[in-house]
Amino acid sequence: MTFQLNEWSAVRLAQVEHALQQWIAQDAPAGLGEAMRYAVLDGGKRLRPLLVLAACEAVGGHAEAALRAACAVELTHAYSLVHDDMPCMDNDILRRGKPTVHVRFGEALALLAGDALQALAFELLTPCDPSVPATTQATLCRLLARAAGYEGMAGGQAIDLASIGRALTEDELRRMHRLKTGALLHASVAMGAACGTADAGVQAALTTYGAALGLAFQVVDDILDVTTDSATLGKTAGKDAANDKPTYVSLLGLGPSQAYAANLLAQALGALEASGLPAGRTHALRALADMVVNRDK
Ligand code: IPE
Ligand code: IPE
Ligand code: MG
Ligand code: MG
Ligand code: MG
Repeated sequence: MTFQLNEWSAVRLAQVEHALQQWIAQDAPAGLGEAMRYAVLDGGKRLRPLLVLAACEAVGGHAEAALRAACAVELTHAYSLVHDDMPCMDNDILRRGKPTVHVRFGEALALLAGDALQALAFELLTPCDPSVPATTQATLCRLLARAAGYEGMAGGQAIDLASIGRALTEDELRRMHRLKTGALLHASVAMGAACGTADAGVQAALTTYGAALGLAFQVVDDILDVTTDSATLGKTAGKDAANDKPTYVSLLGLGPSQAYAANLLAQALGALEASGLPAGRTHALRALADMVVNRDK
């Protein structure tokens, strides 16, 4: 029987949506809860949560830990989008098919909603009941903190802002993309794997997979910015050129960027092949990598 990503995803997406609905505060003061819920609920592909769950399933890991990790990564991602869209960064008005958080709620509340979402992510990773072993909690916190901080997303965003109007070398561009976007995707895989026990060979394979997929994701994001319309994307198309951002398309051109994304997909799939994991355990990781590179939004 062939693996159907849609069927596999539908069940997990429903779990993630339900958990996010439960865990994001309704009653935060002075409109903050409303802004947090607006930023996270009703939208997004939820790729990062699906990667966490797929990696956990690949290693036969702890389901409750993985659901918490899946939601924590999505909250961190949503926070990064809220701040990325603000006038001091990309100055975008459309996200996930809706006005951006600062357009709807004002800049101060958007800033605070991002801050509160980041804090909530770590709260989710550290339940006070014994449902997740303390050592797993600590590992998940460390992986997420690293991926979100100066060695990851925030560091990459700083490079992005410092690179406006500059021609980066390919090495510099790769580093920026690995940090600003790749790190959180890579961490999604690592956090899923950390919910179980994997031998060193499997861990190394998943690291290669996560790194290739994370970079491929931003290469494709750069491509979609020039090939796809705002209605399909749910965010403003053509923004990178308008903001004079260095991207794979501006550096290599469209065709070579597409070829590079395909090459990264082959690297990700090759790593799974070589991992030693049974094929039945890696169906979802394979299909998600394919989706990252061959998506249209
Ligand atoms: C968009 O991420 C921002 C980047 C990191 C390039 P996604 O394309 O995963 O956005 P959503 O979550 O589906 O809205
Ligand atoms: C954003 O990259 C990466 C983040 C850390 C949010 P982009 O600025 O290219 O993302 P979009 O295109 O606005 O979604
Ligand atoms: Mg940006
Ligand atoms: Mg942006
Ligand atoms: Mg983009």
